[in-house]
Amino acid sequence: MKYILITTFFLLSGLLLANESKLCQKCHPIIYSEYYQSSHKNASTYNNPIHKAMWDKHPKNEKGYTCAKCHSPSDIKSVQTGELTNNSIQKDEAISCVFCHTIKTIEEGNFSNINVSTGKKKEFFTAEKGKKGKAKYETVTSWFGLVKESKNSPYHTIDYSNENYYTGNVCMGCHSHTNNEHSFDITMLDAVIDEKDTNTCVTCHMPQVMGTKVTINETKTHAYHGIAGIYHKSEKMGMYIDFKLFKNTNNFVVNVINKSNHAFFGQAFRQGILKAEISRNGKIIELEPFVFERILGKDGKEVMPWNANMALKDTLVYAKREVVFKEVLLDGDNLKLTLGIKMISKDGLKKLGLKDNNELTKFRVLKTQKFNF
Ligand code: HEC
Ligand code: HEC
Ligand code: HEC
Ligand code: HEC
Ligand code: HEC
Repeated sequence: MKYILITTFFLLSGLLLANESKLCQKCHPIIYSEYYQSSHKNASTYNNPIHKAMWDKHPKNEKGYTCAKCHSPSDIKSVQTGELTNNSIQKDEAISCVFCHTIKTIEEGNFSNINVSTGKKKEFFTAEKGKKGKAKYETVTSWFGLVKESKNSPYHTIDYSNENYYTGNVCMGCHSHTNNEHSFDITMLDAVIDEKDTNTCVTCHMPQVMGTKVTINETKTHAYHGIAGIYHKSEKMGMYIDFKLFKNTNNFVVNVINKSNHAFFGQAFRQGILKAEISRNGKIIELEPFVFERILGKDGKEVMPWNANMALKDTLVYAKREVVFKEVLLDGDNLKLTLGIKMISKDGLKKLGLKDNNELTKFRVLKTQKFNF
């Protein structure tokens, strides 16, 4: 039965080539549905209102929509011509399954890096410890042809030998740096890949979660393709952030310690926020929150990201950041610290001419911790 289904599927797949990722859905349905919610699928102007607003304000020239290189690289026509059209690739697979799984190497570039693709439609890279080399579909027949067992994929070859998928370097074609014309990095992540790191871009942002990775050979877990981060599973990301507290006679200090290999909150108009709340004698005292952000400027004045050549303010968390609260902690106090993130600040909304919308300015919790004195 399985084989009849697969044959039918191949006949159909020839007709369905328009949406490549939808093809993968047949055998990788859980991964597909996660991917469909992810910021990678939603990276185009048609799905991300912040991106659309910024592109609308961005000065235009003959190069056209240069954002396609990272925000919708699967729309090859758009990458080549700079034209932006409302098509199914922009809407359903701006950064497609095939795009990521065929990145061969990353070339370093001045303004941004370049993803070099194999261009192959049916041979995909992935990482799995213990497996190396290329795997082709095999069927093993036993019991005089009565029982058939299959190994690997009937649709495509799998290549386990690309180191970039083990180190996280596969993410760096887009996530390393995005410089504007003044060579100023406007998507500050400051990421460094070190092979000695125990965690990588992939282990932190695509953790193994329950559910099979493929329908044909069931597995317990698969790599989360919704991308854990700000939009999804933000509270799970708190395990990579530590708070260290110091109680002084005239204030208290919180060290926010970053256990990742990049800076936090660096995107333009984004804000990290640390709230502190003291519960004392049955009363709640809310302290002035601390804001982690980068305000971009030129000649000392705030400007839009594409004009910037300096940071007017930079309170991002690199390896760690010390935050001083002017309140004195007393015996019997309970202190609650909450670190969270806003996709876009109120000020950013105004500058981009966006209407307020709970999805955009919602405070998304990364970590909460209580301390008793
Ligand atoms: C006809 C079913 C089928 C289709 C269609 C299909 N796959 Fe697969 N895929 C499999 C099977 C089976 C495996 C092998 C899983 C295993 O046993 O390790 C696999 C494995 C993979 C792996 C490696 C997983 C691993 O760790 O071993 C990747 C990556 C992958 N597929 C990507 C894709 C992409 C991208 C598409 C769409 C372009 C796609 N697949 C379409 C059946 C399919
Ligand atoms: C070199 C790759 C690259 C190019 C080119 C690029 N971006 Fe991005 N952009 C990214 C990455 C990576 C992120 C995610 C970074 C993050 O979340 O910190 C991002 C995030 C954004 C965001 C934030 C989205 C959100 O949901 O908050 C906006 C807005 C944005 N880009 C606008 C643009 C515009 C407009 C252009 C074209 C003028 C552009 N980008 C070109 C890589 C790029
Ligand atoms: C083709 C370019 C490209 C590649 C390759 C890529 N990304 Fe992204 N990524 C983006 C863009 C663009 C955004 C911002 C999307 C938006 O919101 O507009 C983004 C957003 C993100 C975010 C923020 C989403 C959130 O909810 O917090 C994370 C985390 C992320 N990517 C991780 C990764 C990881 C891990 C890899 C490697 C496995 C990777 N990316 C590979 C372009 C890319
Ligand atoms: C942003 C890049 C990116 C996109 C988009 C993407 N993948 Fe992946 N995928 C990866 C990486 C990186 C891994 C390796 C995960 C690991 O090491 O555990 C992976 C792993 C896999 C695996 C193996 C799962 C496992 O647990 O080992 C399959 C199957 C797969 N992807 C299929 C798909 C399909 C189908 C789509 C589209 C619906 C897709 N991928 C979209 C980057 C991507
Ligand atoms: C040890 C875990 C860890 C590793 C490794 C890691 N990250 Fe993150 N990442 C986080 C945490 C925690 C956040 C949430 C803070 C934040 O949003 O800035 C985050 C946030 C992000 C964001 C959103 C940034 C923003 O604008 O606020 C992007 C994009 C991202 N990571 C990409 C990557 C890429 C690409 C790599 C590999 C070079 C990587 N991460 C490695 C833990 C990790």
